[in-house]
Amino acid sequence: MPSYSFRLNGRSVTVDSWDPQQPLLYVLRGPLALHGAKFGCGLGQCGACSVLLDGQVTRSCQTPVSRIAGRTVTTLEGIGSREALSTVQRAFVTEQAAQCGYCTNGMIIAATALLAQTPKPTADQVKQAFAGNLCRCGTHTRILRAVMRASGGQA
Ligand code: FES
Ligand code: FES
Repeated sequence: MPSYSFRLNGRSVTVDSWDPQQPLLYVLRGPLALHGAKFGCGLGQCGACSVLLDGQVTRSCQTPVSRIAGRTVTTLEGIGSREALSTVQRAFVTEQAAQCGYCTNGMIIAATALLAQTPKPTADQVKQAFAGNLCRCGTHTRILRAVMRASGGQA
């Protein structure tokens, strides 16, 4: 069976898959047992499945496992832990920026990537960065506050 090796949250992993088109999301949630990334639309339209691929926000539902060989994947689990939350994660908790929480993975991935590139974004830059992330619960205002808090700015 073909196997694919890549860096995942700071360690080297190898996964086997008969199908080179198998989505990275299935590999993460299946054999690798990482459940931070969620299956939302499966069409690249909601952002719930987001991960960082070589530091870029990437829809794992649309990323074939064969395309990640030799690359670096960071999931929600690699950004922080329950015991050591990242600044973004802590801000989301402080601002209670989730209702059902289904979109939260994608929001935190998007916020982490944005702040890595733009440490002090304006509110408009945050809104633009989140344009592809859907929240059916309508927590956008709290999410904006959380990202601004994480950046040390005002919403
Ligand atoms: S599940 Fe991947 S973008 Fe919606
Ligand atoms: S908190 Fe429910 S989808 Fe965003």
